[in-house]
Amino acid sequence: MATDAGNPMPRFPAGFLWGVSTSAHQIEGAVDEREPSVWDAFTAGPGRVKDGSTAAVACDHYHRYREDVALLAGLGVDAYRFSVSWPRVNSPGGPEFYDRLVDALCAAGVRPVPTLFHWDLPARLDWLERDTASRFAEYVSLVAERLGDRVSKWITLNEPAEHTLLGHALGVHAPGKQLLFDALPVAHHQLLAHGLAVRALRAAGATDIGIANSHGPVWAASEEPADAEAADFYDVLLNRLFAEPLILGEYPCGLGELMPGDVESDLKVIAEPIDWYGVNYYAPAKVGAPHGTEIDFGGITLPAELPFSVREIEGRPVTDFGWPVVPEGLTELLTTFRDRYGDRLPPVVITENGCSYEGIDDQDRIAYLDAHVRALHRAVQAGVDVRGYFVWSLLDNFEWAEGYARRFGLVHVDYDTLERTPKASYGWFRDMLRAQG
Ligand code: BGC
Repeated sequence: MATDAGNPMPRFPAGFLWGVSTSAHQIEGAVDEREPSVWDAFTAGPGRVKDGSTAAVACDHYHRYREDVALLAGLGVDAYRFSVSWPRVNSPGGPEFYDRLVDALCAAGVRPVPTLFHWDLPARLDWLERDTASRFAEYVSLVAERLGDRVSKWITLNEPAEHTLLGHALGVHAPGKQLLFDALPVAHHQLLAHGLAVRALRAAGATDIGIANSHGPVWAASEEPADAEAADFYDVLLNRLFAEPLILGEYPCGLGELMPGDVESDLKVIAEPIDWYGVNYYAPAKVGAPHGTEIDFGGITLPAELPFSVREIEGRPVTDFGWPVVPEGLTELLTTFRDRYGDRLPPVVITENGCSYEGIDDQDRIAYLDAHVRALHRAVQAGVDVRGYFVWSLLDNFEWAEGYARRFGLVHVDYDTLERTPKASYGWFRDMLRAQG
């Protein structure tokens, strides 16, 4: 990879928030100590997770959180983004666990940044039902009352786009539904849940509220009109469908007509002002007209009937997951959003960025992160108001349908002994943060 590594990292604005991210289902384990989630039900089925694993133990963070907080303190991050498991909050001892975690973070001088939903819906609920949005707001009120004296920055949802697409349209994630475009209500109900959660958090006195949406530039496979049209369509589905209801208070391209309920009045809730906009960035997508055949998309099979096809981005290094490494895509994404939404775009925080590579001497991960942090700085120089950057992830963890085969951590986890070993990238990030001051 072409890299500036070795040159000093440019300095970010004062007060820039540096952190790392995880999510409950991917690290906590202790599934018997809470009610089941859709992911427990999904992974119990055969052939769902590539290595046949489940998150029953994962990193056993539920019992080893003190060790993980010590790793965060050693890293010197300002903030830690974790998720609160809704099924655990519903279960005896669950709220107390998050009390202990938040207390330990505060004692270590690390700011807790909880995400209130990262895909682990209680198994008895369903995002196809509008009522799930109201149930979510009730749960958010409980969490805000419980943790609000120590938590001052909140994230409502993680990637409603992926949860809709992978979980409900294609069925490769929990709950395993293959509804294709009939999954659109799942997007609407999550967006509604986001808006209701913002209101619930404000009612509890919270002030610093955002969302973590996944975005990436979409490149047309060629200048042919059919490819450009397919790429625009994909951009609507991946980027605009989840950004515009929040930022502009409207669905793009008339998609609101396909959504259930009183969409106009729901959009007023969905567009409840937020304090910052979280972006999870991994890679751009190159998209062209449909091939008429099934396509492999980073290990996921996309059905032939979709009105687009996702193509390989050639000439780039790839991570172990097969994802292309395109740091300048992050600059492009952020400047595009700034140009599209102007003053209506809230300040941005990169809530996830990272890569899967094997090994403890993970020079590839260092090169990836170094290049992406520099690309982020170029967006800052171009005038995008960026306020923070979180690496995915602190620990190797349960990578959803890939099981334990993909390692995203700055810290290696031995899944037999659960021993944690900081990788070379942990030292790189720590030193970079020290140099930022
Ligand atoms: C998700 C994480 C996931 C990561 C890497 C994001 O889409 O929020 O849960 O582990 O990407 O695939």
